[in-house]
Amino acid sequence: MAGQLPLRAICDLLDVPPGDRRRLLDMASSALGSDSEHGLRQDSWVSRGEILLYFCDLAAQRRVDPGDDIVSLLTRIRVQGAPLSGEEVILNCYSLILGGDETTRLALVGGVAALLDNPAQWAAYQAGDVATGTAVEEVLRWTTPTLHAGRTAGQDLTLHGHHIRAGDVVTLWNASANRDERAFDEPDAFRLDRTPNRHLSFAYGSHFCLGAFLARAEIGAVLEDLRERVAEMAPAQRLYSNFLGAWPRCRSPGGPGDDATAAVRPPGRRVDSRCRRRPSATRRRSRARARPAARPPHRLAGAARRGRWPPR
Ligand code: HEM
Repeated sequence: MAGQLPLRAICDLLDVPPGDRRRLLDMASSALGSDSEHGLRQDSWVSRGEILLYFCDLAAQRRVDPGDDIVSLLTRIRVQGAPLSGEEVILNCYSLILGGDETTRLALVGGVAALLDNPAQWAAYQAGDVATGTAVEEVLRWTTPTLHAGRTAGQDLTLHGHHIRAGDVVTLWNASANRDERAFDEPDAFRLDRTPNRHLSFAYGSHFCLGAFLARAEIGAVLEDLRERVAEMAPAQRLYSNFLGAWPRCRSPGGPGDDATAAVRPPGRRVDSRCRRRPSATRRRSRARARPAARPPHRLAGAARRGRWPPR
């Protein structure tokens, strides 16, 4: 889901044809990182080049056949009377696809990992003790998907005893700023109700993230959906097999079937009593729609959703 939601949102805005999206996700992922510690630097350069070439072609198409999308808009727009150069159009698309896809995806994955590591925080969020907006900010601070940014110093200055000369290239570590004990109480604690939370995950100043509102909306939507639909979360457990390599099941400690219970359940099958005391309006509506007549065994949950359980 983390791979799909941000990708679809930004690809819808750019009107990237559905058939190209998977390839773009792969290119965007390998442009900025690698799944392997031995990942080759040249692979990421190739991916970046391919993304640029992809948008070069897409922009050329949109110039002749414009639509109601951001790529077409960039080819038509005028800034102080002048159109954007071809390079500016392509580089804007490049920033949008990398910014719009990778960062939010990693915030979502990292956010769920943090909830797994901090079950009390997940319980508090499930119970409705924490507002989604506040939780989103803590997920952003905690994960800091964009670890650093580069800047060129515009003037000589001294910062915390370090002398920086005009023209020096400086690396700003957002990840470090987000754990600054002078700015955050207990910076190494994941606290969903943290306020104030003046994190720098979206940077600061003139290059403040263009997609901050979209990213916040996406992370908030996923958190609310998790709260709505997921009773328990547990780390994926590797299959015991010397033939198949997979993570097919989630442990659900204490739950029915224990080792074989998937963590995702249909709405209305929550086990946390605090959640039952404080259901949200959306949850009440979805429970009214989806409450099953009888509690089916879990593997029949799909059948229940399709109205085929209990059998008549
Ligand atoms: C959790 C999600 C996100 C994080 C952590 C994030 C982080 C950042 C950061 C740190 C910067 C500043 C880079 C710099 O200082 O050089 C930035 C800029 C930018 N972001 Fe995001 N971003 C996120 C989501 C998005 C989304 C969803 C979009 C697209 C809709 C987007 C598009 C951009 C663009 C175009 C810029 C360049 C802005 C400029 O240079 O003026 N970002 N982002």
